[in-house]
Amino acid sequence: MSAAREHFGSRLGFILAAAGSAVGIGNLVAFPVAATKSGGGAFLLVYALFVFLICLPVMMAELALGRKSDKDPVGAYRQLSGGSHLWRIPGWFALITPFMIAVFYLVVTVWVLGYLIATLTGNLDLLAGGDYFGQFINSPIVFLYLVLMMLIINGILALGVKDGIERAAKTLMPMLFVMLLGLVIFVLTQENAMLGVKYYLIPDFSKLNAEVVNNAMAQAFFSLSLGMGIMITYGSYMKKRDSIAGSAKVVALTDTMVAFTAGLLILPTIFHFNPQIDPTELSDSSAGMIFLFLPKIFLALQDNVGYVGASAFAAVFFFLVLVAAVTSLVSIIEVPVATLCDERGMERKKAIYSIGAIQLVLAVACAMSFGMAGWLTEFMQVAGENKSFFDLVELIFYSTILPLNGLLVCLFVIYKWKRANFDRELQEGDSGFAGSLSQKYVNFSLGTFIPLILLLVFINTVAEKYF
Ligand code: PFF
Repeated sequence: MSAAREHFGSRLGFILAAAGSAVGIGNLVAFPVAATKSGGGAFLLVYALFVFLICLPVMMAELALGRKSDKDPVGAYRQLSGGSHLWRIPGWFALITPFMIAVFYLVVTVWVLGYLIATLTGNLDLLAGGDYFGQFINSPIVFLYLVLMMLIINGILALGVKDGIERAAKTLMPMLFVMLLGLVIFVLTQENAMLGVKYYLIPDFSKLNAEVVNNAMAQAFFSLSLGMGIMITYGSYMKKRDSIAGSAKVVALTDTMVAFTAGLLILPTIFHFNPQIDPTELSDSSAGMIFLFLPKIFLALQDNVGYVGASAFAAVFFFLVLVAAVTSLVSIIEVPVATLCDERGMERKKAIYSIGAIQLVLAVACAMSFGMAGWLTEFMQVAGENKSFFDLVELIFYSTILPLNGLLVCLFVIYKWKRANFDRELQEGDSGFAGSLSQKYVNFSLGTFIPLILLLVFINTVAEKYF
């Protein structure tokens, strides 16, 4: 007999843990980069609409699945489908997806850790030099950092839901907010910062096209940690007396505010560095931004605050990204851990270490796919392009499967588990929900246009990236 399921101790604890999951590298870097390239305020508007009108109902659906079943995603689909074989498939998807996303995300997180350590040891000037990144990601120290990172995350998970996940979120999230605000305030007092703010906020609707809208949707979905089984699992640790809709709104709002604020950090910093810059020329990827471009900008701050000041600024930034990534990784690795415990009755620590060991091997393979091992570097041809093992994991599990998982959640909740059951779960701890506009909207949208939009995103990605 396994012990009673652990729950979060308080509503705030749940909100901080879920926000910890949602706030990640996606918010701090990918969002500002996307907003910069895609029409500033215009992108913000589209993004916010997607978060609140499309993603929020999906988050409620995932949380409700978890809380009702009191199970991991595999168990939730099994139980609430009444044992259907077909509906077991999305449960497995919601297990494999987080397992594999964690692997590539771990590698990027470890690079952030490496940059933090390099900055703290006085090497910001090296980071700002052109070839550091390529050398660093191919050096054996990455393996050491990977092990270290795994120990930190597994250490938090091993303490349990309340003493591990919740306590880490309660410590780390306020720290994250303070660091982010501190950096923004500092940057806004620098010369030319306002040019960046203007560039960021003034909408340029001419930049909006089908691709931008598609990316905004995918970004919003990823940013809220949807389609990864995370919210199902965290939902299963929620108390019955807490409102799902109310808590989900706070999580979505927090996540969006952090992404928005990160733009107020990144763009003014860029414009301070070079007021003539055309930010649309900047790197497309988050990795290019964090590891190649930002260190140069941070170093340039030394004209105002000296080398130590610039290094301190950079260190706080890398630490901020690291904290955001750690709380996200904790949530994503909790999914397979919960599954092993619930489905196989495995003891929690044993589950954590077994999963950690497999993920470590796969993460090492990802880390070696930037040149260290030729066969991993040129792992497979997709659409006539050589993809590394890392790229392939990212392509399949992040770009392709996430919207599909979201689509399956909507269809399952409305058409298999059924609206009335879903409604009943949303009304637990939230008597005002029944008959409200929110209820009507959530019920209608999840059964109609939300799955349709997710299907379009899925088809679009497949058409664009595989052929
Ligand atoms: N919401 C996270 C982000 O924006 O970075 C998404 C995520 C990624 C969650 C990876 C968890 C994770 F391990």
